[in-house]
Amino acid sequence: MARTRIVTKTLARITPEEYLKIYGLNLRGNGGMQGELSYLRRNPDRAKETHIVMLKDGPTVLSWALVFPDGKERTTYFYTRRALRGKGLGTRVMRAVKKVEPVPNVCPHTMESGRFFKKFEGSVKWDEAGQHWIDRA
Ligand SMILES: CC(C)(COP(=O)(O)OP(=O)(O)OC[C@H]1O[C@@H](n2cnc3c(N)ncnc32)[C@H](O)[C@@H]1OP(=O)(O)O)[C@@H](O)C(=O)NCCC(=O)NCCS
Repeated sequence: MARTRIVTKTLARITPEEYLKIYGLNLRGNGGMQGELSYLRRNPDRAKETHIVMLKDGPTVLSWALVFPDGKERTTYFYTRRALRGKGLGTRVMRAVKKVEPVPNVCPHTMESGRFFKKFEGSVKWDEAGQHWIDRA
């Protein structure tokens, strides 16, 4: 994966091609990322405050994060292609996220994501529901 690179943009500046790729690359009906993305895109002010961090190989998105306004703060969701998990891609995206959101609010909700976020304990924040998954991970 020598050609991989991180691309960070606000949602307002994302290309239609990039939008289609990330719209299809998430947990779909089983997670909040897809619905949140289309909601934010329909709100120009929110789209300007939303950051998309993509790890790309040419035009292909391998792993990405959505940093979006959520009440007074921002929340960050992550997604890595299933076949590429556990290879450090999410960690690269996390490092890039921290440049726009130094202490991201994250949502551990499975053992897998619990393990991932546990790695960043102390430099990310999660709520009580997330702690349950961190303890189990
Ligand atoms: C959570 C997720 C984004 C992690 O992405 P990833 O690219 O696999 O992350 P990394 O490879 O950088 O893993 C980082 C750490 O997480 C842990 N980890 C991740 N996947 C793991 C797995 N399948 N088995 C064991 N540990 C794992 C490891 O401790 C790893 O630490 P290491 O770098 O010291 O090995 C990915 O599993 C995913 O997309 N899951 C579905 C969506 C989701 O749950 N998102 C999070 C909530 S919004």
